Amino acid sequence: PLVTSKAMLEDAYRHHYAVVGFAIHNLEVMKAVTEAAEELETPVIFQTTPRTIHYVGLDYMVSMAKVAAQSAKVPIALHLDHGDSMETVVRCLRAGYTSLMIDGSHLPFEENVALVKRVVEIAHAVGVPVEAELGTIGGAEEEGSIDEAEAAYTDPALAEEFVARTGIDFLAPAFGTAHGVYKGEPQLDFARLQAISRRVAIPLVMHGASGVPDEGVRRSVQCGVSKVNISTELKLPFAEALRDYLLAHPNEADPRRYFLTAREAVKQAAKRKILLAQQSKGE
Ligand code: 13P
Ligand code: ZN
Ligand code: NA
Repeated sequence: PLVTSKAMLEDAYRHHYAVVGFAIHNLEVMKAVTEAAEELETPVIFQTTPRTIHYVGLDYMVSMAKVAAQSAKVPIALHLDHGDSMETVVRCLRAGYTSLMIDGSHLPFEENVALVKRVVEIAHAVGVPVEAELGTIGGAEEEGSIDEAEAAYTDPALAEEFVARTGIDFLAPAFGTAHGVYKGEPQLDFARLQAISRRVAIPLVMHGASGVPDEGVRRSVQCGVSKVNISTELKLPFAEALRDYLLAHPNEADPRRYFLTAREAVKQAAKRKILLAQQSKGE
């Protein structure tokens, strides 16, 4: 069934594991992620950025997600990732999204608070939970905008004020992760993450989780992360498997064949991340 992300993330928060939010770019990836979640009997979140919505089409995305969720044996939420404006938020709500992120992290603090507050009022009126970001997460969710070095870590006291004033359901803090692949090993500030978690007492979201070593994801979950966002580590296996297949079969023109290995590679990658995010459960 298609559900909101509220209950699934609160269960994850209470039991110290995380649900994975996977970036969904097309039908093949959606099916692969759904199969992965069903085989592991775990809830899952489909995530789309505004740019993906532009690419796929809003109604196509919602329709596909509804069909996938209706027949799935696990709860699925459809989430707007890095929502860029009130317009996008309202369009997604109206179309049937069950979870939202509004990203005002580039704005001055007071403007971020004001924007997020408005989104929370509207989304909560129709029972949809809201995630927001404070601080600056490195890399670019969509191609080069923020330098890793520029990333500003989230201040725990400010995080507490931000959550109290906005009424958000989930907080995405900046603690050293970046979107995309890392140049070296990422330096994550677990003490800061834990301090933020203690102060805000709501589920935290880890952005930029692709490229973080397993141990880093595990520790982040132990420090209060209840949603782990994965995009790049699905994009890469999809592209690699597809490229390999087409190079090995230069005359193959049937998408029902050449997408199969890519789909399988995404499914296996998704299963590995789901298992990793679940690992701390019950501790
Ligand atoms: P990665 O591309 O590093 O997995 O980041 C995903 C993300 O944070 C999506 O919001
Ligand atoms: Zn992100
Ligand atoms: Na990353």
